[in-house]
Amino acid sequence: MQLPSVLVLNGPNLNLLGTREPAIYGTETLGDVENRCREAGARLNLAIDFRQSNAEHQLIDWLHETRSRIDGIVINPAAYTHTSVALADALAAIAKPVIEVHISNVHRREAFRHHSFVSAVASGIIVGCGTQGYVLALERMATLLAAQTASARKEAQ
Ligand code: DQA
Repeated sequence: MQLPSVLVLNGPNLNLLGTREPAIYGTETLGDVENRCREAGARLNLAIDFRQSNAEHQLIDWLHETRSRIDGIVINPAAYTHTSVALADALAAIAKPVIEVHISNVHRREAFRHHSFVSAVASGIIVGCGTQGYVLALERMATLLAAQTASARKEAQ
């Protein structure tokens, strides 16, 4: 049986994790985060497709390209969280469960980080839990996808 597939998308500047403002984002690299996600995926029986781009259009194109084969999206939209109606529209168009992740507690930071366009289309949001937030997001996604499968089975009966 094919495992449920989760697209883990990372927005701009997250490629610099490890050296980027370590007091805020910690010292783990994006490679470390990817490894954490792959370990969580193996434990939770989820196939992980892990990607990062600095370009808004690339994140949107990946959502379009993968939409028919993914079951859910874990996304850290980084600065596009606060600016991108286009990214929020793409997530809404795909209509798959979305968990939004922020490594830092954006609500303790500058006021411009307090608003997220993505939150309105997210099933859940994990904020300020460091890179562990990605693992927590995948755990929640596994729960949501299992509930979805159970209700589809029930309807088919
Ligand atoms: C971030 C928070 C955003 O405000 C910021 O622009 C980022 C990272 C986080 O993970 O804490 O690039 O999404």
